[in-house]
Amino acid sequence: MWHATSADDMAQAVDALKRGDLVAFPTETVYGLGGNGLSADSCRAIYAAKGRPSDNPLILHISDMAMLDDIASDVPEAAHILADAFWPGPLTLILPRNASVPDAATGGLNTVAVRFPDHPVAQALIRGAGVPIAAPSANSSGKPSPTAAWHVAEDLGDRIAGIVDGGPTDVGIESTIIDCTRTPAVLLRPGGIAREAIEALIGPVLLAGPVAADDIPQAPGMKYRHYAPSVPVYRLPKDGAATFLRPLCEGADGPRLGLLLADEDISALGTVPARILLWNMGSRTHPEMAAHRLFDGLRRLDDAIVDEMFISDFPETGIGLGVMNRIRKLSRPLEERET
Ligand code: TXA
Ligand code: MG
Repeated sequence: MWHATSADDMAQAVDALKRGDLVAFPTETVYGLGGNGLSADSCRAIYAAKGRPSDNPLILHISDMAMLDDIASDVPEAAHILADAFWPGPLTLILPRNASVPDAATGGLNTVAVRFPDHPVAQALIRGAGVPIAAPSANSSGKPSPTAAWHVAEDLGDRIAGIVDGGPTDVGIESTIIDCTRTPAVLLRPGGIAREAIEALIGPVLLAGPVAADDIPQAPGMKYRHYAPSVPVYRLPKDGAATFLRPLCEGADGPRLGLLLADEDISALGTVPARILLWNMGSRTHPEMAAHRLFDGLRRLDDAIVDEMFISDFPETGIGLGVMNRIRKLSRPLEERET
C-alpha cells in the first residue's frame, strides 16, 4: 500500500482509480474508501475490502454539479435548495437514480446517495478520475470511522492500493443524509450539517429511526452495529457523571479505564491515577469539538487496551445531534453494566 502526502502524488491515486483499484482519501468529514462509482467491479471490491454487507449502499461523490445529472434522474426542489446552500459540504442527498448507476453501488435501490465533498484532495481526485467516486467511510465494517490516515492503515492497510494523507479531518463525523425523494424530506442520518440549518431552508423534516413512525424507511446501514471499539463503552448520565466515576477512579490499582469526557465532567472529576486514560471531548457548549475528537479518541483508547470505556453525554443541538447519534450506536446505557 502506498501512502501519499503531497499534491504530486495525486497522479498515482488518479491512475489507481482509473484502473479500478481502491484508494482511501480525505474528505472534510471522515476518510473515504474510493472506487469508480460507475464500475460494478470497483463497487463490489469496496464491499469486500470493508467486509460490508452488500445491502448497505454507497455514497457517490461528485466534484461539480454537471456530474449530478449523470447519476440522478431528477433533482426535487428541496434538493436544489439544499445543494445550493450546503454543497460542497457535509451533506448527502438521496435522489432518484439514473440507469447508469450500477446496482452494486445502490444495493439495488431505485435511489442513489450523492455528496459533493468540501475538501481539495477529494475534489481533485474526483475531477482527475472523471467519474463519480463511490466511497463509504474507510474503516472495517463496524469499527469507528477514520478521521486520520493512520486509522485507515490500521483497518485496511493490507487490502487497498493506497492512501492519500490529508492530515486529520475537520468535521470528524460523517455527512448528514437527507432523503429528498419524500415530502417532507426525511433525515436519515444526522451529521455535519445541522438539522436546524436544513429546516430553516426547507421547513420541518421527518426523523428516521426509533423516534419515527414505522413506515418511514431508514438508511439501510442503520440496522448494523456501528463505530464500536473492542471493549464495552457505557454512556454516562447527563448530570452526576463525576459522582459515578469517582469511586472507580480511586487508587493506583484497579482496572484500566478509558474515559471520553466533556470538559465539564473532567473538571468535576479532578485528578485521576495513571491507570485511567482520559480523552478530552471539549466543552458541551462546543459540540463541534466532540464531533472532531470522537472517533480518534475511541481508537486511541482501544489501541491502548483498556478494560472498559465511559463516555459523556452531549446536548443534541447543532452537530450535537449527530454526535449523540454515534454515541448511542457505539455505547450501552450504564444500567446494562454488571457490577
Ligand atoms: O461523510 C460521509 O458521508 C462519508 C464520507 C466518506 O463521504 N461517507 C460515509 O459513507 O459515511 P458510509 O458508507 O459509511 O455511509 C453511507 C450511508 C449508509 O448508512 C447507507 O445505508 C446510506 O448512506 N445510504 C446510501 N445510499 C442510500 C440510499 N439510496 N438510500 C438510503 N440510504 C442510503
Ligand atoms: Mg460508515
